[in-house]
Amino acid sequence: MGSRRYPGQGRLNGRQITAVVGVAGALVLAGCGGSSGGSSAGGGGGGGGGATSSASGSATSGKIVWSASPIAGAGATDTRTVLINAFEKKYPNIHVTLTSAPTNTDTNRATLATEISGGSATPDVFMGDVIWPAQFAAHQLAVPLSDYLPQSYFANFAPGLVTGASYKGKVYGSPLFEDQGFMYYRKDLLSKAGLQPPTTWEQLESEAKTLVSKNLVKYGFVFQGASYEGLTCNFMEYLTSAGGTATNGDYTKATLDSPAAVKAATFMRSLISSGATPAAVSTFQEAQAMNIFGAGNAAFLRNWDYAYSNATSPATGKLTTSQVGVEPMPAFAGQPTPGYSNIGGWNMYINPHSKNINVDLTFIKWLASDEAQTILATKYSEIPTTNSVRNSPAVKNVNPVLAIISKTKLVPRPAGTPNYPALSTAIYTNVNAVLAGSQSPAAAMKSAQSQASTALSTSGGGL
Ligand code: GLC
Repeated sequence: MGSRRYPGQGRLNGRQITAVVGVAGALVLAGCGGSSGGSSAGGGGGGGGGATSSASGSATSGKIVWSASPIAGAGATDTRTVLINAFEKKYPNIHVTLTSAPTNTDTNRATLATEISGGSATPDVFMGDVIWPAQFAAHQLAVPLSDYLPQSYFANFAPGLVTGASYKGKVYGSPLFEDQGFMYYRKDLLSKAGLQPPTTWEQLESEAKTLVSKNLVKYGFVFQGASYEGLTCNFMEYLTSAGGTATNGDYTKATLDSPAAVKAATFMRSLISSGATPAAVSTFQEAQAMNIFGAGNAAFLRNWDYAYSNATSPATGKLTTSQVGVEPMPAFAGQPTPGYSNIGGWNMYINPHSKNINVDLTFIKWLASDEAQTILATKYSEIPTTNSVRNSPAVKNVNPVLAIISKTKLVPRPAGTPNYPALSTAIYTNVNAVLAGSQSPAAAMKSAQSQASTALSTSGGGL
């Protein structure tokens, strides 16, 4: 059981597995569809055997173009440039040109899908979301890396990540960093009001209201509520804690017309109607929620791992480390704590039309090196993907986010199907309508169910 793999890129420990099987068994099975064959204990799952092509990342000279969206929010030092500079120092005869991709993962995906399906040889390599492998594999938009790199390469990554990056027995992505949802809070404000960090959603809502009504802070709780992928991530956290799922195990049925889904959506709307959350949250992506919290204008924030460094780095946030606390996500009252953290993160992929595969592989392999992974973890509070850096005591102790990743309970998105983009759209557009107050939770979940069912019955998924 300890070596079971999940579609959502995270490793769940025994306790977590029991919880996920209990409330979201569908998601457990979903992983098998995306990565049948080749899974083995120890983290190399999905590799499907040995490498079959000759390029292996031995190139030491050449030029490649890397497409990547900003990592860890916009700061004074661009993470991507820091990584490129360190790589070029090690490989002085390789030159990497950065193409900055859109921050919205959906726009990023659409741009790349158009370029690559049109036959463009650039970018050579791209940083892509962990939810892309099924769709990109089904449409030949990414090279199967397991044709080039051996099982021993993939065994370097934390268990679960490689299976999440696999489709039908081949690995398409080399994990770059993992994201998990966390609840950030203002330690100073809570202690002024004599409050504890909340462990339930209900407690978070009431504390947020208290802090606002005492005029200690402008807003209570901010999160990602705009009509885009990030809202699906947030919704999965409430839905799972309420006991619901989005689909069944083999993606033949949507399961969104459930009392649990209505409970999740009802609670999210109540955050706004109770005054705990500003109504504008229905337009917030990561950056807007982050900026409000980082500027000291919200008591609580749901965001990914990088938010800690972003809020406390003078270039991006106004807060000090003594003001910012972090905990795993809350659960609904009466449910086991902690609640669920959605799994996100980004992998490295190769464009099938790239003329420089051997150089692409050199770069990708370096990004999985201790040097690159340590930069991401220690400077930007990104969760490293390789076992060696993830388990290094020096890295774990560097900030409170990395120190608590063993406590989080993870839930993936139902991304093991090429139909995922339409499925997720069905979720986030309808949940967004609830947040905006334009649809009732029950009506919204009915239409999410019907649109998700249509998405799942479309053969092969669209681009
Ligand atoms: C983060 C996550 C990614 C997710 C996105 C949604 O970038 O890493 O998996 O899709 O947020 O906005």
